[in-house]
Amino acid sequence: MIRGPVDEALNSGCHGLAAVHDFRVTTSERSSVMPLDITMLLSLVLLLAGVVSGIQLPFSGKPMIPSPISHDDVKYATGFTLRHIFHHGTEELAKLHMRKDVGPSYRMASGRRSFHISSQLKTVTRMSERDPDFIESYLHYARTKGAVSIDFDWTHEDIMVPDITDRDTLVEFAKITADAYVDNPEGSDWIDVGLPYNETGGFGWDSNGLRGHVFVDETNTTVIIAIKGTSAALFHSDGDTVSNDKINDNLLFSCCCARISYLWSTVCDCYEKSYTCKQSCLEGALYAEDKYYRATLDIYRNTTSLYPNANIWVTGHSLGGAMSALLGRTYGLPTIAFESPGDQLAAQRLHLPFPPIPLNETTIWHIGNTADPIYMGVCNGPTSVCWLGGYAMETQCHAGLECIYDTVNDKRWHISISNHRIRPIIDMMLSYDTTPKCVAPTNCQDCYDWNFV
Ligand SMILES: *[C@@H]1O[C@H](CO)[C@@H](O)[C@H](O)[C@H]1NC(C)=O
Ligand SMILES: *[C@@H]1O[C@H](CO)[C@@H](O)[C@H](O)[C@H]1NC(C)=O
Ligand SMILES: *[C@@H]1O[C@H](CO)[C@@H](O)[C@H](O)[C@H]1NC(C)=O
Ligand SMILES: *[C@@H]1O[C@H](CO)[C@@H](O)[C@H](O)[C@H]1NC(C)=O
Repeated sequence: MIRGPVDEALNSGCHGLAAVHDFRVTTSERSSVMPLDITMLLSLVLLLAGVVSGIQLPFSGKPMIPSPISHDDVKYATGFTLRHIFHHGTEELAKLHMRKDVGPSYRMASGRRSFHISSQLKTVTRMSERDPDFIESYLHYARTKGAVSIDFDWTHEDIMVPDITDRDTLVEFAKITADAYVDNPEGSDWIDVGLPYNETGGFGWDSNGLRGHVFVDETNTTVIIAIKGTSAALFHSDGDTVSNDKINDNLLFSCCCARISYLWSTVCDCYEKSYTCKQSCLEGALYAEDKYYRATLDIYRNTTSLYPNANIWVTGHSLGGAMSALLGRTYGLPTIAFESPGDQLAAQRLHLPFPPIPLNETTIWHIGNTADPIYMGVCNGPTSVCWLGGYAMETQCHAGLECIYDTVNDKRWHISISNHRIRPIIDMMLSYDTTPKCVAPTNCQDCYDWNFV
């Protein structure tokens, strides 16, 4: 829980016992699937004792309970099937939020029913209080009060995370993010999970907005949310480039509302004068209700309410990759993002919590390749495809580990927007026997020539 001046502001949305509840469910749920009962039970008892009696636990950047089992020894593989699709509108349809439950007979476009993922035990550090009401009230507070230094309570938890050193697992994640599933599969009808929606079909709501495809394992203990923007934009297919994705891209990955020159139409009104931009205006624009980040939070909230005890992972490609990384950062969820543009600036503007651990210990992985100008952050400047398409992709820093396939040197690929697409990436990943080493970026800073006031 947050201590100090923030307490007051958050009291309304914050329930002190939520953290305890959180511990109890995730821990006991895990022990039923893995041979870890004794360790888990021990941590559970100690954690509960500490939390209930109000004793400050000695969080010092090290795991609290030394695990007698080497993390490398505990590996677990499981099959995931698509269970639900969330569709969240944006812009004028921002209130629209629908869910479709997918039947067990559902097959992917490829004819497959399930995805096979290997995972391993890892200690992650995340906020002990992760209830959506609490997190969203923190985000609101941080945004309205500006940069504040907040002293969170962090916990170290042993959870299963995807084994990103396993090539086939990484490929399965890439396939999950790809458009491998049909748009409107058989199953139940779409049901409203947000405000009642009064128009039925035919108004474009099913093709514009943000989607979360929810995959669940056989035991309902691990859930994967795959996030994607749905409009047909420059980077996804040839076609309509004036889209929600473009607005969101320009909001998330530009220095100042895509205000490149007076010739550009801006996506927010924060530009003040030459190389000067209003910070609080930017923060408000990113967090606006009709934009992708808020839609992502709603999809997460609804998913956790369906699977309150589950261990949740997120994934996505491109803009969906960046959204997955922002969601992973918000809630401390293991995340695999493919070919994401630089998301660090957005994470900072949204005041997402960064755990007090070295960056190399994080469980947010940004998979990319050196021939993808979007991932590498070089798709900018007057001659670039992005610029010509009206995309202001100015950022290049990732808030997580970077795992980069060197396709330029290994495969003689040329830097091209076509190497951003997920299909060639999947084939490329399969042509390697191993996965790339993941490293923490050092001293990366975006938009350093701008003043944010
Ligand atoms: C939905 O629209 C119809 C007419 O188009 C209207 O009669 C009805 O009251 C609306 N329902 C809601 C919940 O707004
Ligand atoms: C998992 O959840 C589904 C509902 O989403 C339920 O039908 C099924 O029985 C559950 N399976 C297990 C093993 O709990
Ligand atoms: C689902 O999301 C909507 C916002 O779109 C929210 O109002 C609703 O409370 C959520 N439902 C659950 C069960 O979390
Ligand atoms: C992270 O880096 C530190 C040194 O800065 C090293 O001691 C530690 O083992 C690294 N952790 C991982 C997971 O690579």
